[in-house]
Amino acid sequence: MQYESLTTDRRAGYGNFVNPQWARLLDALSMNVRYERCEGVELVTDDGRRILDFLSGYCVHNTGHNHPRIVEALKDELDRSGPAMLQSHVSESAGALAERLTAKAGGILRKVFFPSTGSEGVETAIKFSRAHTGRRHLLYADGAFHGLTCGALSLMGHPFWREGFGEMLPETASVPFGDIAELERRLGTGRFAMFIVEPVQSEGGVRIPGPDYLRAAQEICRRTGTVFVLDEVQSGMHRTGPFLAAHHFGVEPDMVILAKALSGGLVPVAAVLMTETLYRSVYGSLKRSIIHTSTFSENGLSMRAGLAALDVLEEERLGERAAEMGELLRARLRDALAGYEMVKEVRGLGLLCGIEFTAPRSLSRRLAFESFMAIHPAMFGQIVVMRLFRDHNILTQICGNNHLVLKAAPPLTAEVRHIHRFAEAIGEVVRCIHESPSFWTEALGLARRVANI
Ligand SMILES: Cc1ncc(COP(=O)(O)O)c(C=O)c1O
Repeated sequence: MQYESLTTDRRAGYGNFVNPQWARLLDALSMNVRYERCEGVELVTDDGRRILDFLSGYCVHNTGHNHPRIVEALKDELDRSGPAMLQSHVSESAGALAERLTAKAGGILRKVFFPSTGSEGVETAIKFSRAHTGRRHLLYADGAFHGLTCGALSLMGHPFWREGFGEMLPETASVPFGDIAELERRLGTGRFAMFIVEPVQSEGGVRIPGPDYLRAAQEICRRTGTVFVLDEVQSGMHRTGPFLAAHHFGVEPDMVILAKALSGGLVPVAAVLMTETLYRSVYGSLKRSIIHTSTFSENGLSMRAGLAALDVLEEERLGERAAEMGELLRARLRDALAGYEMVKEVRGLGLLCGIEFTAPRSLSRRLAFESFMAIHPAMFGQIVVMRLFRDHNILTQICGNNHLVLKAAPPLTAEVRHIHRFAEAIGEVVRCIHESPSFWTEALGLARRVANI
């Protein structure tokens, strides 16, 4: 027993006092299992199921679940009874982590602010780019996911996330992802403080821009005095191979936001890397030394987790591994999914991989598919996720802003056998979709039940 519950049913507390709708959705999808131990790429349930994690908590678990080195670092930090949340000291571990992050990121990034979440990192970018340029307008790319706080949400066009929450920041605009001419037109007005973009749009459907897009974006930003911000919350920390996805494209952004995997999957931590001049625009004098801060910024546990996560990524050469395993994964998937009319494309960089589905041409399947779409646009993908989980013990998810793309993003510690297992399982699910009418009848029944709860 790790904690006391007021009721005899330890699981009832969540449904009663936290988020019953989430629990009901997981129940309906047969995914509300009780995890007992999570290690590396494997999640073990209380009834002995061993589930292969191909989601990584949306790119949090790059170093694998509960890596012993990171757990040890956190225990050590607690045992030493050092300063925690003192708000009155200079943190040595924050200095060490910032030094290592800027060295790994390279380019013109010289200073670091440490928030606790990706959204808070995006809020930081909004404030700093405004302070730096004296402009208020903010530009983002269609399909982006930047977080759900009000500022970050103002930089996401998808209506699903915004509905019911009222007005967001007024001076925002979007451009199509990958469209250099439109970016030029917008930024040419000289009104925008920043252009924020994910080098690979993860929730947008694992969309990879053309080879020249980010370099062109950087050049336009420099020419128009716009701060060039890369959101690497999912794509950073060696997820795509190099430390930053920016390194694939040869760009030197003014600001980079990291979060998720920096924590080693154990405590909240984010980092905003920036140029010296951006830093000075905000903290330019003694009286402004804490003009932008946050209670949990630079806290000892987060900094130690970040340092330990970097150690593991480097010592286990997880960047190289992500590149190699990513190639293998895509090769195996292309092989296993070849010839199926509903598979449009397999794409990705490193271990950030997407399988895009499309509407079937054949009439019988098309009718069933359209019924799914009518119930909810995410429903088809959720059934694929549910099948992988229930029938093959594999955890995945579809992309938050592109429901026809299934994301495959295992911990970077995944081995060849895990890649094979995933490819075989998705091959089997896709075979059922195309060859087994019972797939559609069962799935439609389930979809209607889920839609009605
Ligand atoms: C690319 C990207 N940016 C920002 C965020 C927001 O991060 P957080 O949920 O830590 O606030 C996310 C979250 O999924 C993300 O994927």
